[in-house]
Amino acid sequence: MRRAHLLITVGRVSELDFETRQIHAGTVVDAEVGARVTPVYQTAGYLFDSLEDGEARFAGRDPAQAYSRNDNPTNAVAGRRIADLEGGAAGIVVGSGQAAIVSAIFSLAAAGDHVLATERLYEGTRQLFEGAVARQGVTVEYVPEDASEERWASRVTGRTRAIYTETIPNPRNDVVDLGRLAHIAHAAGVPLVVDNTVATPYLCRPIEWGADIVVHSTSKWLSGHGSVIGGAIVDAGRFDWAAHRDRFPFLTEAPRHGAPSFVERAGALAWFAYLRGVTLLDLGPSVPAASSFLLLHGIETLSLRMERHVENAQRIAEWLEQRAEVERVDYPGLPSNRYHERAKRYLPRGAGSIVTIDLVGGREAAARFLGALRLVSNMTHIGDVRTLALHSASTIHARLDESERQRLGILQGTIRLSIGIESVRDIIADLQRGLGAI
Ligand SMILES: Cc1ncc(COP(=O)(O)O)c(C=O)c1O
Repeated sequence: MRRAHLLITVGRVSELDFETRQIHAGTVVDAEVGARVTPVYQTAGYLFDSLEDGEARFAGRDPAQAYSRNDNPTNAVAGRRIADLEGGAAGIVVGSGQAAIVSAIFSLAAAGDHVLATERLYEGTRQLFEGAVARQGVTVEYVPEDASEERWASRVTGRTRAIYTETIPNPRNDVVDLGRLAHIAHAAGVPLVVDNTVATPYLCRPIEWGADIVVHSTSKWLSGHGSVIGGAIVDAGRFDWAAHRDRFPFLTEAPRHGAPSFVERAGALAWFAYLRGVTLLDLGPSVPAASSFLLLHGIETLSLRMERHVENAQRIAEWLEQRAEVERVDYPGLPSNRYHERAKRYLPRGAGSIVTIDLVGGREAAARFLGALRLVSNMTHIGDVRTLALHSASTIHARLDESERQRLGILQGTIRLSIGIESVRDIIADLQRGLGAI
């Protein structure tokens, strides 16, 4: 038997809780041997039963795999599971978070097009927008997230193709008002694309607030153990592409003479069909099946880890706020934080596990702090079970000049902490050692 039994498919699981779906959603039990855990299908291609079978798979009439560049059974389970947890209609995993972002953007915008983005974003994304995306002729224009609706609307042009944001922008944690941005995007006739890496679908599901496309770096909390680089793209399946054919003609026009358009072929999933069948097939940012195997194992414990991540982060943020060596703590779970009320609305289960601090004493204090840590790792990365610390100004934000850094809230004493799930007592003891060295 070629196609195995699909245990739980996307869109048919609403009666099951998140904790159940993170283990079961999208699973396919292999029909040959009944392997209960999704195997690593480490294969480039798949046997066609006949010429007609190969033809049908290439044409997309038969959903069976044709080639692993954009379709592999291990990866497919991961894509379906993330889509299910996000409340989306379809999902796919790719080689990194950066690959997910650029693939989503290049499936919406081409040379001459324009994307609006909120100002505070992960610095790697800003560099991508100002680098490779700009070089391909797509302009990304930043608007302060809290700018008025009129100001947002005034920046929309006939070439605008999306609004892009992050649920909890890394590293300053200024929680975004997703419902308002979705409203602004839809009034402009464009989809809202949200990077939900830092919140994860356990803490916030942007699609429930109106987002149309969700991207992830699965390298972070979804995998959770610091052993994987990967990304994911989820389509809510709600945006009416046909109603905006002037902006997205590649979805409504025949790709070649006599062929059906993506909207005719895939309806509400037209964009997803284009993403998978054109962008990902052309660019090839594939993720190894072995990485998706690790990702699936990570997702199975996501809720448990997130509960501990946010509990630890909250306690550590409260502790840091009392310390004289710390000038400022950015954590929306703190009542003193300007995003606290918004966090209660969008992140009722916890405000994530990035705690960003400004040390009194600038770079010198930061160097002493990092140098004294024994348990907490001085490294770039977030969303690991281990607690990590990073001096932003000399690493991720090193390419910016001082005034640009200040505008983004990155000072010489700024340290980004990604709080892990170790004993909170041990993490605090190590942070105390670091602060003591200042
Ligand atoms: C919010 C966010 N999005 C995307 C990325 C990029 O992900 P990756 O490193 O998997 O390419 C990162 C990486 O730190 C991130 O923090």
